[in-house]
Amino acid sequence: MKRTLLILLYAASPALADREALTAPLPGLNASEQERFLRGRSLFRQSWVIAPARDRTVDGLGPLYNRIACISCHPKNGRGGAPEGPDQRMQTMLVRLSVPGTPPQAHPVYGDQLNEEGIPGVPGEGRAEVHWQTRQVTLADGHRVELRFPELRFVDLAYGELGPILVSPRVGPPVAGLGLLDAVDARTLAAMAREAKPDGVRGQVNRIGPGKHPGRFGLKANTSDLRSQIAGAFHGDMSITSPLFPAENCTPAQTACRRAKNGGRPELSASQLADITFYVAHLAPPPRRNTGAPAVVRGSAHFAAFGCAVCHRPSLHTGRSPQRLLDRRSFSPYTDLLVHDMGPGLADDRPDHAASGSQWRTAPLWGIGVLAAINENVGYLHDGRARTLEEAILWHGGEGEAARRRYADADAAARHDLIEFLNSL
Ligand code: HEC
Ligand code: HEC
Repeated sequence: MKRTLLILLYAASPALADREALTAPLPGLNASEQERFLRGRSLFRQSWVIAPARDRTVDGLGPLYNRIACISCHPKNGRGGAPEGPDQRMQTMLVRLSVPGTPPQAHPVYGDQLNEEGIPGVPGEGRAEVHWQTRQVTLADGHRVELRFPELRFVDLAYGELGPILVSPRVGPPVAGLGLLDAVDARTLAAMAREAKPDGVRGQVNRIGPGKHPGRFGLKANTSDLRSQIAGAFHGDMSITSPLFPAENCTPAQTACRRAKNGGRPELSASQLADITFYVAHLAPPPRRNTGAPAVVRGSAHFAAFGCAVCHRPSLHTGRSPQRLLDRRSFSPYTDLLVHDMGPGLADDRPDHAASGSQWRTAPLWGIGVLAAINENVGYLHDGRARTLEEAILWHGGEGEAARRRYADADAAARHDLIEFLNSL
């Protein structure tokens, strides 16, 4: 009954369906898997509380943190955005930090991420203000587009000066379909990196840790697998310890942080970590929309002809996976999971494992057409600078320069159709 009602509502309002497009499970979960999915979902939506709390299973927030829930930065599993200006707080993004060196290291006092918030008695680390700078580009047919990029200023720093610092502002990306990306095997990634590609496109596998595991997650493919990405998010963004990150997220200089009460050792149990990983791994990619519309069909041809598909690969497959629904599946993420040099315009100049300051992981484009319906303040690209899909394309440089130029040189009808195609993904 409830399901029928929902389907009727969605039929009446496509926008409503779009808002829920990233919340469905992969089809085929059995009853116990469905229960597990729901347990994981409540952990993803949970607002964590300060320890000690009556419910010991969800306490341990902080001492230093960014937001109190995963969904705060991944609203309805979709994309975050950037503040409008310096007076607005970062709601759905964070700033990674390191000190220059080879390799760069975490900041000795602030760690590797600015935690803006602290629990009572523990001062938050400070705030990164976003000041937008703009510039104009003119396309071949005279159409003008304003681009903006952020300049960060650190204020209210509670633990002293930052000194020389490398910074990387990053917006929370969508999280649907990630189990499939997790199950793409290392050989497939290496083969894609080796393949000869047109337009001077290269592409490299990021390598993580002493084991040199291939990177898949994070905006520079700076984490190897979904479970460690999620445990890292609990630790870095909410300061929740887990079997993978057993120590509180406090540097030696942060004494109040080190003295604060914890919510158990670890705060997130192994079974909770397994449940939330199962949940994220089994979120289905959004179904495509309007695929038969003539503009979408034409736009799809432009996507290939402009060279977009060289990086944003329409088709990938998983290797062997212990998860039945992820085992040897074909899917359409519109990414190669490789990092590419995107030129100085997008560079953060902060190396991350084997990725350089100008390399970024090809953003998966599945679902990109629903992100604005889910979050009206959505911002595209790693730091949310692009307000529209067109702005995102016009920031492509480096290995993406040839594709950008073909877009900028195309006539208005072809540009329109390409955007219609993106909106159908
Ligand atoms: C303060 C905002 C913020 C919070 C809170 C947050 N995330 Fe994220 N999330 C991000 C950002 C930014 C990235 C990209 C990180 C990077 O590039 O290193 C990310 C990346 C991810 C990814 C990888 C996505 C991809 O395409 O590679 C997953 C999965 C994820 N987060 C899950 C979680 C979970 C689970 C939680 C709760 C424990 C959480 N996040 C809390 C901001 C946040
Ligand atoms: C050389 C590889 C490459 C090519 C070619 C390429 N892209 Fe990208 N694309 C990327 C990377 C890497 C990012 C992420 C950059 C960032 O976050 O700063 C990205 C980001 C995007 C985004 C923003 C996605 C989001 O969720 O924020 C869009 C839209 C996009 N590309 C569309 C296109 C289109 C359309 C073309 C062809 C005109 C194209 N790209 C060609 C690598 C490429």
